[in-house]
Amino acid sequence: MGKRSRQRQKNQNASRDDRDNAGWGAGYADIIKENKLFEDYYKEQGLIPEGEFDQFMEAMREPLPATIRITGYKSHAKEILHCLKEKYFKDIQELEIDSQKIEAPQPLSWYPDEQAWHTNMSRKLIRKSPLLEKFHQFLVSETESGNISRQEAVSMIPPLLLKIESHHKILDMCAAPGSKTAQLIEMLHSDMDVPFPEGFVIANDVDNKRCYLLVHQAKRLNSPCIMVVNHDASCIPMLQIDSDGGKDILFYDRVLCDVPCSGDGTMRKNIDVWKKWTTSNSLHLHGLQLRIAVRGVEQLAVGGRMVYSTCSLNPIEDEAIIAALLEKSEGALELADASADLPGLKWMPGVTSWKLMTKEGQWFSDWSEVPSSRHTQIRPTMFPPKDPEKLAGLHLERCMRILPHHQNTGGFFVAVLVKKAPMPWNKRHPKLRKSAPTQTGGSLAADVPRLLPEGSAEETEDGGPGGRGDGETENAGTPLAQEAAGKQDAVCGPPPSKKQKLFGYKEDPFVFLTEDDPVFTSIQSFYDLSPDFPKRNVLTRTHEGKKRHLYMVSKELRNVLLNNSERMKVINTGVKVWSRNSDGEEFGCAFRLAQEGIYTLQPYIRSRIIRVSVEDIKVLLTQENPFLSKLEDDAHAQAKQMGMGSIVLKYIPNPNNPSEPQCPIQLCGWRGKTSIRAFVPRNERFHYLRLLGVEVFRDKQGLGQKSRDGAKEEAAAATKAEQEGELENGDENGSLEPKIEGGNKESSIS
Ligand SMILES: C[S@@+](CC[C@H](N)C(=O)[O-])C[C@H]1O[C@@H](n2cnc3c(N)ncnc32)[C@H](O)[C@@H]1O
Repeated sequence: MGKRSRQRQKNQNASRDDRDNAGWGAGYADIIKENKLFEDYYKEQGLIPEGEFDQFMEAMREPLPATIRITGYKSHAKEILHCLKEKYFKDIQELEIDSQKIEAPQPLSWYPDEQAWHTNMSRKLIRKSPLLEKFHQFLVSETESGNISRQEAVSMIPPLLLKIESHHKILDMCAAPGSKTAQLIEMLHSDMDVPFPEGFVIANDVDNKRCYLLVHQAKRLNSPCIMVVNHDASCIPMLQIDSDGGKDILFYDRVLCDVPCSGDGTMRKNIDVWKKWTTSNSLHLHGLQLRIAVRGVEQLAVGGRMVYSTCSLNPIEDEAIIAALLEKSEGALELADASADLPGLKWMPGVTSWKLMTKEGQWFSDWSEVPSSRHTQIRPTMFPPKDPEKLAGLHLERCMRILPHHQNTGGFFVAVLVKKAPMPWNKRHPKLRKSAPTQTGGSLAADVPRLLPEGSAEETEDGGPGGRGDGETENAGTPLAQEAAGKQDAVCGPPPSKKQKLFGYKEDPFVFLTEDDPVFTSIQSFYDLSPDFPKRNVLTRTHEGKKRHLYMVSKELRNVLLNNSERMKVINTGVKVWSRNSDGEEFGCAFRLAQEGIYTLQPYIRSRIIRVSVEDIKVLLTQENPFLSKLEDDAHAQAKQMGMGSIVLKYIPNPNNPSEPQCPIQLCGWRGKTSIRAFVPRNERFHYLRLLGVEVFRDKQGLGQKSRDGAKEEAAAATKAEQEGELENGDENGSLEPKIEGGNKESSIS
């Protein structure tokens, strides 16, 4: 790898990646927060309003206050909010720590349903102060179980501006570690009663290791509509799907283009940026950013939206990219005015003039001033368009720059692009294809004829975009491709002309079951699956041997997987719904339910369900193997009538009793000979206990479990069990392999 590429790689990986999800425990050594070049640069650019520069610099030097986003699906998120407001926020708001008065956290006005909160505490304070220990534990535990995200306020903006609907096909181009991906998934599942929304998220990252952060993030949401893939976004392959008996190119309704950037907007958190900042990061990244953005708009459906964002304040990475994209698009793209979409958020309109500075401090206002010796480093697309009329027509003022001192946040840049027509370099003799309403190919409105470029999937000899053509981008003679050829910083040209070979790619295969697969025989009868259960959406990860785990994806993702296995590096997809249970067969079915897939599966299961009360759940989550008689009468009677084996423990909220949780709760369990138990990962146990009003808290000595409602023993038991490893996760899913009565495993208990 050459020096330049090493530098680039370093920039991409280290710059701003971990602005979210750095964890509540991360910290930095003290670094002097001075950088003269940075100050000079931003003073000269004139991005900061007159008279505010000192405030800007002062805010940059202050630690970033923690912001919290409540994640998860609607009714659960509401319950967490209730818990936070009624308990944890109240506990901390009177406190004074190190002569700092802790203020009550405030909801972010522009984030819907009070799901995002701003505190005046830094992460360090929350982590270190003994007075905040309970709050800290709550945050750590709920973050681990996916119910809370410590996410920078500004980083929550792009998914909101995408205006996601549940049928949208979404591409998240540079997705790791995945805080925005999580938002996108949540938005798809806005109706909790629909287990398989029509839309999906394909979350991509070039860094294989970081893809696993994405998997972890996505897994917490248990969605069958997410796929994690591993490609360079600047040439991510065009995918194809079956549609109306033919093949179509998959155009996305929404694209999130949250590109790698120099990250100077994150200096409040990633304070080593103070030391490292020079303009060369921006100059290096500009080309990649533009190539990624171009690839994004190529794959966007006409009528679709793409959000471009960076946490850099630098116009070279921001307005310059947008201006270049708009110019190349020749009217196919427009900047949307998103000013009404973020009520109460203060932002600065995008700028129309900026200059360029080299690492050595030399300034250039125009491409014509750049000596040819610098032409590999400095590109024409880095400068604002010269023609004032053209420039005004781009409406760069619709871009949004969020400045740290305006509302005590990080710095951020975001722009919303709407695609009005195919990109000009893809437009060659577009062919009209009649559209019929369809579930899978519906990236365009059903009543609009679909525009397929020549050479699209339908027409290529080898039947798809991964062949010679790669759909929209097979344009060796187009201006775009010409520009790309031989120019280091120019837009990415056509993707490889040969079928992509996925070197070194080691993931297990994704194998779909057929409807008559023998595993369904016992599953069907044991769980009394409803006739509409989509068996074709069930998959395993092995071609050979016994199937250990069964996963499900939505019909639309199945379509994507089946049509693109040759060209796509899929790291993970699907939610686990069943796992083989070593002794299961003797109880009528070899497969037990998996907690992570229970909300997906449960609508199709008509037997093996026990309705439980709040008190029952407390018993089930705090005792290891309670006797059936520990359940309340109703649940006890149901359990007695049921044979041994895997069960669903289902709580249905009672709207007439608002003191109880108002969200449905479903837990996987096992009905033993005389006892019953829930198989729920540790953090989820704690989460549900908190929803039920049981405070789960462990002080430094492992003591100090308390309860609000007299459930002290239960909470203590849960914590003790956890400490003793009783509730430790049994497999990668965190579910325990059931101990079976009758055999030697449970006989001493029952
Ligand atoms: C700012 S981070 C993305 C943050 C993410 N969207 C989130 O909200 O959690 C940029 C990501 O881009 C990835 N990246 C860098 N170059 C890339 C490329 N050429 N294609 C795809 N991803 C890339 C990095 O690995 C990094 O994970």
